[in-house]
Amino acid sequence: MSNLLPRHIAIIMDGNGRWSQENHCRHRWDGHRYGINAVRDVIKGAVEKEIETLTLFAFSKENHQRSQAEITALIKLFKECLLKETDQLAENGVKLKFVGDLKGLSTELVVLAREAEFKTRHCTKLKLNLAINYSGRWQITNTLKSIAIGCKEDTFNIDKLDEKTISDLINNDFGTEPDLMIRTGGEFRISNFILWQLAYTELYFDSKLWPDYNKYDLFEAIKNFAKRQRRFGLENAYAQSV
Ligand code: FPP
Repeated sequence: MSNLLPRHIAIIMDGNGRWSQENHCRHRWDGHRYGINAVRDVIKGAVEKEIETLTLFAFSKENHQRSQAEITALIKLFKECLLKETDQLAENGVKLKFVGDLKGLSTELVVLAREAEFKTRHCTKLKLNLAINYSGRWQITNTLKSIAIGCKEDTFNIDKLDEKTISDLINNDFGTEPDLMIRTGGEFRISNFILWQLAYTELYFDSKLWPDYNKYDLFEAIKNFAKRQRRFGLENAYAQSV
């Protein structure tokens, strides 16, 4: 059996565009705004279930190829959320951390993001990672670059390079590797989300479109996780405990 409760859950919040279409919204990106209700409810659910870390994939590097109007609407939404919700997150014990290429975003958003991290730095109930302008390959490339620089400047010995070194560098951003990864919206893909860290993560796919998702759907995924047998490459669950 698994350890019953996942310590770290990562979510690909997919289906906002389709939700907008199905609900006759003016723009395909209006669904992102409705998706905030789902974000709030899922955070509440994660706190209730005493999940340690929740990672939400809010904006990928590839999303930069969308229309300027959609990108502008999303960035505006992030800024509004940070202004409106940070105090409440702090009151509820949620510690915010932004992961991704923040250099590629507007200075105003970066300032708000850093302020929100600062305001919530002492919170201990839930660690909330928001992946913005993030992609798994980007993170792996960055990690390899930092190792290459270390070798060039003689601060890192290439003979010491092993999987643990890479994991430690990558996990530095997210804290731990996810035990459970959920994707909503009915697609069965990873879409360049966390890659290295998913090696032994349990995957769960939900057909609901993100704005319709709520904490009870999250509880279903957690219940399903509890039935999984995590083997980490060993013969059976028993082998883990001997
Ligand atoms: C994918 O749906 C979703 C996104 C690209 C953005 C998700 C962002 C939010 C829900 C806002 C989160 C905000 C904070 C502050 C955490 P899609 O547009 O690809 O949907 P589709 O597959 O139906 O086209």
